[in-house]
Amino acid sequence: MRTSLPEILEESVSLVQSTPEWAARAVDMKLQQVPWPVAHVWGDRDLMVVAFRNLVENALKFTAVGDQVEVRAMDDGRHAVVEVADTGPGIAPDELPHIFDELFRGQNARELPGSGLGLALVKRIVSLHGGWIDVRSRIDEGTVVRVSMPLTEA
Ligand SMILES: Nc1ncnc2c1ncn2[C@@H]1O[C@H](COP(=O)(O)OP(=O)(O)OP(=O)(O)O)[C@@H](O)[C@H]1O
Ligand SMILES: [Mg+2]
Repeated sequence: MRTSLPEILEESVSLVQSTPEWAARAVDMKLQQVPWPVAHVWGDRDLMVVAFRNLVENALKFTAVGDQVEVRAMDDGRHAVVEVADTGPGIAPDELPHIFDELFRGQNARELPGSGLGLALVKRIVSLHGGWIDVRSRIDEGTVVRVSMPLTEA
């Protein structure tokens, strides 16, 4: 299905914010508009919403009130690039190679709910769509998760 990434992102963020847990937390959306909006991608809308919800929930769960969470999207003519960025605790460099493993949870997750399945599922969904995912993180500065997906022909 040819599908609009900005719509999927808007839906993902509003679903997360519709839960009482996250209703009070701001998520800044910076979606490319100039000179055109992000082009369409192929994919299963519902699965993509599952993936982006997981990323936004991680960004909120691992940060605190006062931290910033940003969802941004642009296209480079061949791929759509979505980043979910936060000013949270970051991920230790020795843990970064493991965060997409099923059931892996980092030290920063000790006091927080979850099962360590989220990012494994996100990675699976993204690769089913011909895309890929990578993460940059700095301790005490924050984390950026980037998803790249091929664009459909116009
Ligand atoms: N935005 C983030 N900031 C800091 N650490 C993160 C972030 N996203 C993921 N992590 C780290 O990566 C680990 C794996 O993430 P994942 O989403 O798979 O599991 P989880 O969120 O702990 O549990 P679940 O997603 O099953 O509820 C987390 O436990 C956490 O240590
Ligand atoms: Mg998670």
